Amino acid sequence: MKKILVTGGCGYIGAHTIVDLIENGYEVISADNNSRSSERILESVEKITGKKVKNYKVDLCSYDDTFAIFQENTDLSGIIHFAAYKSVGESVEKPLLYYENNLNSLINILKCAEEFAVDNFVFSSSCTVYGNPDAIPVTEQTPTKPAESPYGATKQMGEQIVRDAVYNHKGKAILLRYFNPVGAHPSALLGELPIGKPQNLVPAITQTAIGKLPQMLVHGNDYPTRDGSCVRDYIHVCDIAHAHTLAFDYLLQEKNQQNCEVFNLGTGNGYTVLELINEFEKASGVTLNYRVGARRPGDVVAIYANNDRARQLLGWDPKYNLHEMMATAWKWELRLKEDENIFNTPNAGLN
Ligand code: WQD
Repeated sequence: MKKILVTGGCGYIGAHTIVDLIENGYEVISADNNSRSSERILESVEKITGKKVKNYKVDLCSYDDTFAIFQENTDLSGIIHFAAYKSVGESVEKPLLYYENNLNSLINILKCAEEFAVDNFVFSSSCTVYGNPDAIPVTEQTPTKPAESPYGATKQMGEQIVRDAVYNHKGKAILLRYFNPVGAHPSALLGELPIGKPQNLVPAITQTAIGKLPQMLVHGNDYPTRDGSCVRDYIHVCDIAHAHTLAFDYLLQEKNQQNCEVFNLGTGNGYTVLELINEFEKASGVTLNYRVGARRPGDVVAIYANNDRARQLLGWDPKYNLHEMMATAWKWELRLKEDENIFNTPNAGLN
């Protein structure tokens, strides 16, 4: 059984990916210091898969602590690197925290991968690297633009670091550019756990609908789009997760044509904020209390993916539609309400 190290394995996309990897025959270990996640999420992974996943509660910014994981697991076939801070707003306030954490952890993992000859590497990247594209849908060849935030810059730099690292080392890498991951596992045992007030649209919607937030604010409806609100490519987290399994299959079967390849992970459909709210109301039966406010600085007007490469080369075929994305997100929020402390995450005050 091929064994994979998933860093950030207790995070939203990390945990969903671990479930998919296990269901497709991989053995998995996690490395997550739980500074922004709860290790209890792996109990849900065990309920879904029947497999207990070991988590190394380690700060990957410590080379020695990272090295110790590899010393204990010399049979790794590959690594998926999710571990990073990801709040756009926080990165603007604390840029050095983001450069230090996101880049040092990546460099340590890559150094150990080279030291222990772990030759298959999947990097969690983001459509953020495209900035405000001149033409949509974006393909993997669409030129990246200056990042809109230090967070986005760490993803652009991260891609370059991975590209250069595998070039010298005989390893192979895949960069997965997620569009907007949303929704939750159909079991409602896994889902997004925003820390503090949610910055992202879907948790802001579900927390408003459940009464955790008094009212949701739509950041602008005067954009040059069909209803004035921003357009994004929302993609179900389980579809994102399965793309990681397919990416590993692709690398392990040596189907890669270059030593570092990029894939867009989006549905190829763009929806506006107001269309998403409408779909949520239909899926939940809840009328959302929202108002329209000013634009949010740094927001991209419209972006959605051309996902032909992932479809043709990875055999990826995203299954969840917008209704299911909203329905699973809502089912998860309802479950969290049932048990408020189910995953008490630290730093709850973080916005
Ligand atoms: C989507 C739209 C907001 C909240 C995110 C992550 C980024 C990357 C890509 C991972 C925008 C509007 C939001 C609210 C709103 N993911 N909105 N009211 O900005 O596309 O980027 O996905 O790498 O890290 O931040 O997603 O969900 O924040 O915003 O009107 O309360 O919803 O203005 O138009 P975004 P988002």
